[in-house]
Amino acid sequence: MGKLRVDYLKDRDEAVEGVASGASLRSVMASFPTGVTVVAARSNGGEPIGLTVNSFTSVSLEPPLVLVCIGHGSNSHDAIIEAGGFAISVLSAAQEAVAIRFAKRPSESRFDDVDWGEAPSGHPVINGASAWLDCTIHEVIEAGDHSILLGLTHACGGGSDPALVFHQGVMTSTEG
Ligand SMILES: Cc1cc2nc3c(=O)[nH]c(=O)nc-3n(C[C@H](O)[C@H](O)[C@H](O)COP(=O)(O)O)c2cc1C
Repeated sequence: MGKLRVDYLKDRDEAVEGVASGASLRSVMASFPTGVTVVAARSNGGEPIGLTVNSFTSVSLEPPLVLVCIGHGSNSHDAIIEAGGFAISVLSAAQEAVAIRFAKRPSESRFDDVDWGEAPSGHPVINGASAWLDCTIHEVIEAGDHSILLGLTHACGGGSDPALVFHQGVMTSTEG
């Protein structure tokens, strides 16, 4: 058992001399199915801002922390941090068009003609989402070309609607 462990570490040390390319990491991560969310905030100027995010996960139950990773190149990056909080809408299976809109449309017109309401904090929630969380920013951790936003969850809710799933670059549903 001990020998196997030593061999494993030796292989690992050789493997970590280089780093994988961003392209190969992206390609491998595409095989990891995720849900799809819209992370949105009311900017300090009052306008709704938001983007499609699949780097969402729960972190801690006590206190209730979640995280999302926002790229430094994202137009919403600074505005969400300055807003001090955000709402997360977990998109339902019927909301693929919303996911595409919040990834591709110019930021200024993303909320046009979208049915949205407000979390208790006032941050935007997409109506018809299968779940939502209302967070204040607990901590921002710089990590490579993204910032990890740790969100302290103040309120959340959800239903039993099938969720949107992102896998191998394709959006499907938990219903199959
Ligand atoms: C399925 C999917 C998941 C995405 N996840 C993230 C993510 O976790 N973090 C991120 O910064 N961008 C993510 N993006 C890309 C942003 O949605 C996209 O770059 C968007 O245009 C950024 O908007 P902004 O520049 O107005 O902030 C994702 C896009 C798609 C389609």
